[in-house]
Amino acid sequence: MTDVSFTPEFWHAGVDTEVLRHLLLTDDTALVDRLRSAAREVAVARFGRRVFVRGLVEISNVCRNDCFYCGIRRSNTHVERYTLSADQVLAACARGYELGFRTFVLQGGEWGAERDKWIADTVAQIRNRYPDCAITLSLGEHSREAYAAFRQAGADRYLLRHETRNPDHYRSLHPDSLSLDHRLQCLCWLKELGYQVGTGMMVGSPGQTVDHLVEDLLFLRDFQPHMVGIGPFVPHHDTPLAGSPAGSVDLTTRIYAIVRLMLPDALIPSTTALATISPNGRLQGLLAGTNVVMPNLSPTDRRDQYALYDGKANSGAEAAEGIAALKAELDTIGYTIDWSRGDYQSSKL
Ligand code: 5AD
Repeated sequence: MTDVSFTPEFWHAGVDTEVLRHLLLTDDTALVDRLRSAAREVAVARFGRRVFVRGLVEISNVCRNDCFYCGIRRSNTHVERYTLSADQVLAACARGYELGFRTFVLQGGEWGAERDKWIADTVAQIRNRYPDCAITLSLGEHSREAYAAFRQAGADRYLLRHETRNPDHYRSLHPDSLSLDHRLQCLCWLKELGYQVGTGMMVGSPGQTVDHLVEDLLFLRDFQPHMVGIGPFVPHHDTPLAGSPAGSVDLTTRIYAIVRLMLPDALIPSTTALATISPNGRLQGLLAGTNVVMPNLSPTDRRDQYALYDGKANSGAEAAEGIAALKAELDTIGYTIDWSRGDYQSSKL
């Protein structure tokens, strides 16, 4: 099967399980090169050689969940827990605004309903101070009412990865208190409430098969998220999955390319996890059709405590204050930063 076509028509009509399996498994490097180039061309035609930046504020590493892969899981007693005050979050946004960021992403562990009001109040303060900025939340599962309150307070976007679309695989990575059905329910609520919604998965998580990844890709095609966050699994030494191998740059960037071809308008970050496993990971991601990077705006003395996986990159081009390094890196492939809010826009008429 070397006659895979990379035209838009093919990706709208003809893409099926067999083609996806082949693209993920093939050792025909010429075909994989064509896949990545086709995806890059789609991204460049749609966005130019430009990369949107989002300032990431890691607001807390306190989490009620116990996901088997994650370094800030509740039962990891080696983590020194922190939660930023609203003033610290606002100060991080102020620093980001000064640097030129017009999207702030508040990410953190998942809290219970008792902190919903704090989240809504903090969002409202950011919204009030920065009417020209997009506010993205990445704070896990909440009630529909809480999501509505965050939206009402001024949040525009929400990131909630589905992690894996296969129910058995989902169960193997999460404690019984979490379910794929509820995760998918949350994603539907977020869409109904008018958020720009991001979802996605880890690549190479323990127990993952090619068929699971095909399920993920078909889910992304059907759900049509506005943003898609995908990164390699990277083990964390204090989790039950310590010692498992990390995902690869090769497979992650094949998946970026497929997602770009399936969802030409999507905002797809070249993720920190990819930059962590390879020094040129971020650029490889961009060359496979991604168009977003998310530099870290968290207070520098907290960054090491937000360790979802070992070796997590948080300095140089990965840090907001390292924007010159990022610019220089992008320059090597002829790309520049796009400082606009970069909202999702459908190219369909
Ligand atoms: N390796 C890679 N990604 C991870 N995440 C959490 N733990 C890991 C890990 N060990 C990702 C999850 C989550 C996002 C915030 O970080 O996909 O949704």
